[in-house]
Amino acid sequence: MATRRSLLFSPYRLREVEFPNRIILSPMQMYVAGDDGIATDWHYQHLAKFAVSGVGCVFTEVLPPDPVGRNTHWDLGIWDEAQVAPLARIAGFIKESGSIPAAQMGHAGVKASRQRPSDGLQPLGTEDTEKGEPPWQPVGPVTATHVQGYHPPHELTTNDIHELIDKFGEGANRLDRAGFEFLEVHAAHGYLIHSFYSPISNTRTDGYGGSLKNRMRFALEVAESIRGRWPEKYPLSFRISAIDAVEGGWALEDSAALSTALGTVGVDIIDCSSRGVGAANSLTKLEKAGKSLDEGYQVPYAEFIRKNVGMPTIAVGLITRAQHAEAILQQGCADFIAIAREFLYNPHWALHAAEELEPESAWEDWPPTWSWWLERRNKLGINRVD
Ligand SMILES: Cc1cc2nc3c(=O)[nH]c(=O)nc-3n(C[C@H](O)[C@H](O)[C@H](O)COP(=O)(O)O)c2cc1C
Repeated sequence: MATRRSLLFSPYRLREVEFPNRIILSPMQMYVAGDDGIATDWHYQHLAKFAVSGVGCVFTEVLPPDPVGRNTHWDLGIWDEAQVAPLARIAGFIKESGSIPAAQMGHAGVKASRQRPSDGLQPLGTEDTEKGEPPWQPVGPVTATHVQGYHPPHELTTNDIHELIDKFGEGANRLDRAGFEFLEVHAAHGYLIHSFYSPISNTRTDGYGGSLKNRMRFALEVAESIRGRWPEKYPLSFRISAIDAVEGGWALEDSAALSTALGTVGVDIIDCSSRGVGAANSLTKLEKAGKSLDEGYQVPYAEFIRKNVGMPTIAVGLITRAQHAEAILQQGCADFIAIAREFLYNPHWALHAAEELEPESAWEDWPPTWSWWLERRNKLGINRVD
């Protein structure tokens, strides 16, 4: 195999896991599971295709360790033993294909109990009940919801919080047994963990609210619980909302403090997303405000954490060009590039990026059963049609 010249296609080691390159399939909910939260052939084919198409690390969608933490009736989960085997089948195939099987775990908090995006993303109501999709009561740091019009949550008691923290640990253990080698906690986008650390959504007055230290406590205890059940040899990531982008909200300096603290309890890398408090969805809020987003709009957050905290970071958000992805790594802004929607549009993005960045060795990344034919077709001068 030729030596890789780009950073995007260079390997990277975290703990005992050697990632073949820096390209990550960002977690994406598919909204196609049943109420049992069990992965189906849809999830298998959805993730398997990225593993054979040169993606270095393939993430599942967010998996709640408690059914109350589902966004919708259609989410996958990791609260039950029956969910392990179908996920193990997916993780096994990803591993066999030379990619790193990764799982994301999270809890929707006040954003639970709502419709799928394609059905409107509204809190479940009477019409949904008539369809056999009744609402359930979400949970949050306080009884007020931070998203206007959403169901008022049950305010978690200290006891509830401790039980949930244990469930994250149990979930981590199930994911280990399913064969995943990289785990990420979803602590962004206004979901439960984010809603604890943001001053906008957490007005508790006990040990889990008030000061920055108290608001960070839930995130840190979740990390500790997971580290206790997740093998030492495997890395742990936290996806944070680096800023709330709301007046008086969570700021970049707070994210630096949180990342530093997470680092002390065994978190290895920070996945830098943003926003989501006070909005149904961080992306649609910006769309509704008529704000166009810049390419790589969240890269400065990954750069800030990497340079100020000294932890590795994942950059995500409107990164669609190979040259741009490479420049982010070359400029030291991040260690990995996570891509979501562009992969829906072009599942072979990683293979095409290799072709662009390293044309001399590009075919090495393709499954040989495909490349044998395509190389020969190219030699005949019949290239793909652009
Ligand atoms: C269909 C879809 C589902 C998503 N589900 C999740 C999820 O389960 N967990 C998560 O952290 N982010 C989720 N996201 C956000 C993406 O991981 C990513 O951060 C966001 O789309 C920005 O990256 P992009 O511009 O490459 O799409 C989802 C995005 C999409 C489009």
